[in-house]
Amino acid sequence: MPKTQSFFVCQQCGFRSNQFLGRCPECGSWNSLVEEIEVGSKGRILSTKSKKVGEIIQISDLKTREFDRFSTNLGEFDRVLGGGIVLGSLVLLSGDPGIGKSTLLSQLAVNLQNVLYVAGEESAHQIKLRVDRIKSGSDLKVLQETDVDLIITTIETEKPSLVIVDSIQTLETSDLSSPPGSVGQVRESAHRLQRLAKNSHIPIFLVGHVTKEGNIAGPKTLEHLVDVVLTLEGDPASLFRILRSNKNRFGSIDEVGIFEMGESGMMEVKNPSALFLENKIEAPGSSVVALINGSRPILVEIQALVTKSLLPVPRRMGNGIDNNRLQLLVAVIQKRLNLPLYDKDVFVNVTGGLRITETAADLGICLAIISSLKDQILDSRIVMIGEVGLLGELRGVQRISQRTQESKKLGFTKVISSDKTKTLSQAIKLALK
Ligand code: TYD
Ligand code: MG
Repeated sequence: MPKTQSFFVCQQCGFRSNQFLGRCPECGSWNSLVEEIEVGSKGRILSTKSKKVGEIIQISDLKTREFDRFSTNLGEFDRVLGGGIVLGSLVLLSGDPGIGKSTLLSQLAVNLQNVLYVAGEESAHQIKLRVDRIKSGSDLKVLQETDVDLIITTIETEKPSLVIVDSIQTLETSDLSSPPGSVGQVRESAHRLQRLAKNSHIPIFLVGHVTKEGNIAGPKTLEHLVDVVLTLEGDPASLFRILRSNKNRFGSIDEVGIFEMGESGMMEVKNPSALFLENKIEAPGSSVVALINGSRPILVEIQALVTKSLLPVPRRMGNGIDNNRLQLLVAVIQKRLNLPLYDKDVFVNVTGGLRITETAADLGICLAIISSLKDQILDSRIVMIGEVGLLGELRGVQRISQRTQESKKLGFTKVISSDKTKTLSQAIKLALK
């Protein structure tokens, strides 16, 4: 068999070179050359006409079938995956260093039978230490290897029920000369594992590193290639960890899983609202909003701090909310309520490390800001639900009754929403003590 040949191909213009070049001589782009494997010239189709005809599938002939899944025995994890691990799926888990990726997947591994843990980063002894912390005395098969081809052969022989690769950036194939972690190596290794997962129906989890900017390190194609992209997030200072799916071919991407990092791994948080409101105190600048994450309502506290600005352009800084949304809400408060925020810095924080993506929190954010500006406490029995429009009007959001129910369950007696109140100024009258 001829040895596979590799080339460096410019990702911008397709220029090919035998060696790595920092700058493409054809189009002039920097660092655009990536190593790729050349398929033998005999295998290539020279003519555009093929003698064979492809098979066409009529969708109506297919029977509706659920994906074959099995549970992780972690309810929060199952929820994010859309109901468990799908056979033959390739799942990428990314997140900052030290956030708990290896811990979460080790937990998965000890919960299930016949899991193979491919360790490219840590020694088997280090993994034993972690596994003992999670559940002392539990067993786990560890393969300390970075050669992807050897790993694939081992998986084919061992036939585990699940494979965990920690991490994809450490894998390499000897068919390419570039170092592990380079775009070419990561892409090729992931490709080979994807083919294996699809052919053998063995699900594979890949741990992926993130760059300083927060993107998944390696090629963007990695995210296209896998079936599910999960991210584990959280403020390093807090113990909460939020598992989110950014892409899921087998389920909704709205669901989040909430965990708390503990002495023996990640603990599931079954009642997040109670936990997020645990440390709430009565002070100006604090409000409670009801969010919907996937199928579940969650109450969180919004904190705002409005201070005199010493800068020519005052700061508007949001943690857990979109900065553009914050700027817009500040502008609405200024114009519609005639409140002076032009010389004030405005800081807004969502407690618990949650990130708000829906407009239902607008009212709560506005009221927290106004409460801090006026130095007046909001009624602590109230939950705010509603989108604020540019005219200062309150707009309806989805599933108000579900949000209201959750609020009642947690002991809040009043809900301010578009059902009862039509403008921001009316809401203020109801909410300020
Ligand atoms: P780790 O899973 O190694 O992070 P990652 O793989 O994302 O880089 O977790 C790192 C942190 O988790 C480490 O600082 C120790 C802490 N930890 C706990 O608090 N409890 C535990 O049971 C375990 C195993 C780790
Ligand atoms: Mg790790």
